[in-house]
Amino acid sequence: MEIKLCVVFLLVTASIHDCDGVLRFASYYKVHMVLQKSPERAVVWGYGPEGAQVSLTLSGQNQQNISQATVTNGTWRVTLDPVEAGGPYNVTAAVQNITAVLTDVLFGDVWLCGGQSNMLFEVSGRVYKIFNASEELKRAAHYPHVRTFMASLKKSDTEQTDLIDVQIPWSVQPANLAGFSAVCWLFGRNLFEKLQYPIGLVETSWGGTPIETWSSARALQQCGLLHESKSRKHYRNPQENSVLWNAMIHPLLNMTIKGAIWYQGEANYIYHQKKYNCSFPAMIDDWRMAFHQGSGGQTAPDFPFGFVQLSTWKKGSKSDAFPNIRWHQTADTGFVPNPRMQNTFMAVAMDLPDGRSAYNPIHPRDKQDVAFRLSLGARAVAYGEQDVAFRGPFPSQILSTPKYLEVTYDQEVSVTPSENIFEICCSESESPWDPKAHWVLAPIMQWGPTTVQLSTSLCSPTEQVAALRYAWRDWPCDFKACPIYSASKILPAPPFISTNLQPKDDGKSGGAVNQMNQTGDCN
Ligand SMILES: *[C@@H]1O[C@H](CO)[C@@H](O)[C@H](O)[C@H]1NC(C)=O
Ligand SMILES: *[C@@H]1O[C@H](CO)[C@@H](O)[C@H](O)[C@H]1NC(C)=O
Ligand SMILES: *[C@@H]1O[C@H](CO)[C@@H](O)[C@H](O)[C@H]1NC(C)=O
Ligand SMILES: *[C@@H]1O[C@H](CO)[C@@H](O)[C@H](O)[C@H]1NC(C)=O
Ligand SMILES: *[C@@H]1O[C@H](CO)[C@@H](O)[C@H](O)[C@H]1NC(C)=O
Ligand SMILES: *[C@@H]1O[C@H](CO)[C@@H](O)[C@H](O)[C@H]1NC(C)=O
Ligand SMILES: *[C@@H]1O[C@H](CO)[C@@H](O)[C@H](O)[C@H]1NC(C)=O
Ligand SMILES: *[C@@H]1O[C@H](CO)[C@@H](O)[C@H](O)[C@H]1NC(C)=O
Repeated sequence: MEIKLCVVFLLVTASIHDCDGVLRFASYYKVHMVLQKSPERAVVWGYGPEGAQVSLTLSGQNQQNISQATVTNGTWRVTLDPVEAGGPYNVTAAVQNITAVLTDVLFGDVWLCGGQSNMLFEVSGRVYKIFNASEELKRAAHYPHVRTFMASLKKSDTEQTDLIDVQIPWSVQPANLAGFSAVCWLFGRNLFEKLQYPIGLVETSWGGTPIETWSSARALQQCGLLHESKSRKHYRNPQENSVLWNAMIHPLLNMTIKGAIWYQGEANYIYHQKKYNCSFPAMIDDWRMAFHQGSGGQTAPDFPFGFVQLSTWKKGSKSDAFPNIRWHQTADTGFVPNPRMQNTFMAVAMDLPDGRSAYNPIHPRDKQDVAFRLSLGARAVAYGEQDVAFRGPFPSQILSTPKYLEVTYDQEVSVTPSENIFEICCSESESPWDPKAHWVLAPIMQWGPTTVQLSTSLCSPTEQVAALRYAWRDWPCDFKACPIYSASKILPAPPFISTNLQPKDDGKSGGAVNQMNQTGDCN
């Protein structure tokens, strides 16, 4: 019976870990790791001889707690009592006199870091190197309680129980940091600065991969993508539906986590671009459900999810692929959190271009600013810190008069009128779906603490203004030089597009800024 089960396991999982009956922990439970602190309870699991009673001992200063589990189908699993932040602890699994031990285990917040090359982008790696890489490596020695772990880049056609391999084992800084995700590291370090307790960072990322690879069949089905997989040809990196979900996400579901951050979208700039407004929120929902279930209810069903809005690629490009993905990353609302994407936070990055990047401008070397903006979002959304500004200005109302538009923002703005990236859609029929409708610049005329007035004089006298958009370009401005920022000048106004222009004096209050449907876009 046992042997039969093992054969089944090996066939199903193609994994080296299962079924040898040796007592040990799953691949991502190792010395120096961070387990999720209270109020959640950490889940710990591993392998052992079929039917054996495993006792798991958590021993720290002056305390020792023991839990029991039985090995079923080759695995055992224990949900620990809630443990406050701190450590170190030893976690010992024992079957009679055989033991497996994890030493130097800390309790803190565990964050998952996923995505494609801009998440993979190392601090100082063989492929990529961020700005100030050597200084960042030196500084890392001051953060022994921010621990890092990276899954190997593996794909699979079936859902794996455990990681097929580990790229970077749980590490105490600065060991192995050079090859670790810069955005993930800098984000975790910033959180530690604020929280002053251990942070565990679990990187699972692969360059050039579309969102479909990271999505389960359930999530793909939500968006009609289940049977529309990219073919293998012409791509070095995985493109097929669910193959990274299977090998690099599914194995982690049983671990209790605090939240996740994500930097991806470039690989969808033409591939299923129009569906990204569905596929991205659907993947977030599905991960939340699956991590909640996998941890036996310990990981929050709405765990915080942060992401980087796409940066820049080609200066001067007229393509609207990046603007469309940026918009779709917010479920077509322009900002997060929003009703479709609750408990999320976003780092705007379109104002951080790096034309000199040796790795192609699509891979900007400044990851410090991106990680800083992400950590502001985490502090506000994940940790409920009051008074942390994390969103740039967004229009609450757009009023139109015959000569100008007046945009009112939801907060005070800092305006630099020299660079202008507001555009209006001029249309003879007042509709952006008119075949002759076209975009022209709308120069900034003047501004107040929360408003900006835009000239509409570049439409011809026979045309009406049918829509307004902002920063709707692949590469909208030079480094930190977009026209609109928060009053503190730290947070850029995100891009928007809207047809919701209200006549200024009709007494009605303006409606929400909304999307144009893109079937008959202005040219
Ligand atoms: C953990 O185990 C190591 C090695 O056996 C031992 O030196 C250390 O004191 C133990 N720490 C705790 C907190 O039990
Ligand atoms: C161990 O158990 C005691 C009593 O149930 C509890 O107060 C304590 O928090 C537990 N410690 C750990 C580390 O689980
Ligand atoms: C063990 O595996 C068998 C066969 O796949 C399955 O029917 C059973 O539900 C499993 N038991 C547990 C506790 O997972
Ligand atoms: C465990 O106990 C058995 C029986 O007492 C003994 O034969 C074996 O050598 C022990 N193994 C270890 C690792 O101590
Ligand atoms: C997504 O955007 C497309 C246009 O790109 C639109 O047709 C569709 O209705 C949007 N779907 C959702 C779920 O918002
Ligand atoms: C991981 O979680 C899933 C979903 O709850 C469960 O089916 C599976 O048995 C768990 N694996 C282990 C090793 O506990
Ligand atoms: C690199 O270090 C210099 C000097 O400390 C600093 O001015 C600059 O902002 C840093 N660059 C980044 C991207 O953090
Ligand atoms: C897009 O909007 C136009 C104008 O309101 C409307 O005529 C058209 O049916 C809409 N198309 C879709 C696909 O919603």
